[in-house]
Amino acid sequence: MASTITASGSMGSAATRDVLVLTEVRAIDPAEGLDGVVDVVIEGGRITRLGPGAATDELLRSERSDRIDGRGAWVVPAFVDLHAHLREPGEEYKEDIKTGLTAAARGGFGHVCVMPNTKPVNDRRSITEAMVARAREVGGPRLHPIGAITMGQNGGELTEMADLRDAGAVGVSDDGKCVMSAAVLRRALEYARTFDLPVIQHAEDHTLTEGAQMHEGAISARLGLRGWPRVAEDVIVARDLLLAEATGARYHVAHISTRGAVRLVRDAKDRGISVTAEVTPHHLMLTHEAVLGYDTACKVNPPLREQEDVDALRAALADGTIDCIATDHAPHSSLEKDCEFAEAKPGMIGLELVVPVLLRLVRQGALPLARLVDALTAAPCRVVSIERPRLKEGASAELTLIQPERPVTLDGFASKSKNTPFLGKQELGAVALTFAGGRIAHRLSGV
Ligand code: DOR
Repeated sequence: MASTITASGSMGSAATRDVLVLTEVRAIDPAEGLDGVVDVVIEGGRITRLGPGAATDELLRSERSDRIDGRGAWVVPAFVDLHAHLREPGEEYKEDIKTGLTAAARGGFGHVCVMPNTKPVNDRRSITEAMVARAREVGGPRLHPIGAITMGQNGGELTEMADLRDAGAVGVSDDGKCVMSAAVLRRALEYARTFDLPVIQHAEDHTLTEGAQMHEGAISARLGLRGWPRVAEDVIVARDLLLAEATGARYHVAHISTRGAVRLVRDAKDRGISVTAEVTPHHLMLTHEAVLGYDTACKVNPPLREQEDVDALRAALADGTIDCIATDHAPHSSLEKDCEFAEAKPGMIGLELVVPVLLRLVRQGALPLARLVDALTAAPCRVVSIERPRLKEGASAELTLIQPERPVTLDGFASKSKNTPFLGKQELGAVALTFAGGRIAHRLSGV
């Protein structure tokens, strides 16, 4: 039976009975060294039993138990997204915290880090606090704000990072814009280091991308669109790695997209520099050829690159040079997308697409399943110091049930926006159930 990926239950609803039992499910938690068929018992918001035969006859017969037959399914720790734009405050017509967290739950996420390019910019305690408070009201996946590096993301005066951290920020970034001044970035790294916050850079030398619409190459030339050369990313990553080395701070490359930046990160890791990197599903799955029909859904920043970049990104994700997968969920309304290419805003939604889009990579043999799970769970938690969801007796129930063979149509999103080139595609792989913070945040109908 094909289903839309969002034919699901509601946020924050508790299980109908107070014990949930998953039987004969393949449990995969690479950080725990776990990959095997087990039963999982969830009671009172915690995993109380996990192992072969954990679902006793007594438990299964009990009226308190709600049983899900896990045969053919996988259970993994709930995903952690390092990079989403939920648009609240300021652009709630594109997304808000409620719809964004609902989309996250449907995509299998238990934690979402949200970028500060809201209106106003999240450059102060009061905005960070308001975001956290709104997310608590909504329930479901936990929201972790990322504060701005500079006031108003203007690239000059640094934010008060101690305040941001105390209010709940887990990192700092001027995402959407690059911190162009080496002097400012140096001070930001030094300052963030004193609070143990990672500095997350949107690596784009704006002097090399003025007016750019897509990747600079044969296709931009053919379409007559101004190009965004790879070197605009590489030159910033190279400079920043020197600054990271000089300061000893935690430096993280957002949405890495070029083979050159991959090489720089690999060399820096070999030299012991404290650097991590994330890649998006769209940069792993698409090339600049997707732009050939001037489809504005394919306009994104950084732009879709060439096959050799995609190959380098896939290899680097597989070998751990790229630590994490992050969605860069960037909702835009039809106002910003149903227009000329040059007028369109860059960005794609992603929270509800990770499983169906990326299982294709696993099936093709381009990415080991354990690495996919690690890149969505333990690895992002190492970047931003979030306590890692885990499949372990006694742990809080933060887990995601995947039906890898279930056909889905990529449509009917919980997100307010539908700007994705994957819209309407048929794929295999559904998120059947998400537990966030010990409660059911999403349950696909029929599960
Ligand atoms: O494509 C993008 N959209 N890249 C970014 O860095 C920002 C994002 C947005 O906020 O729309």
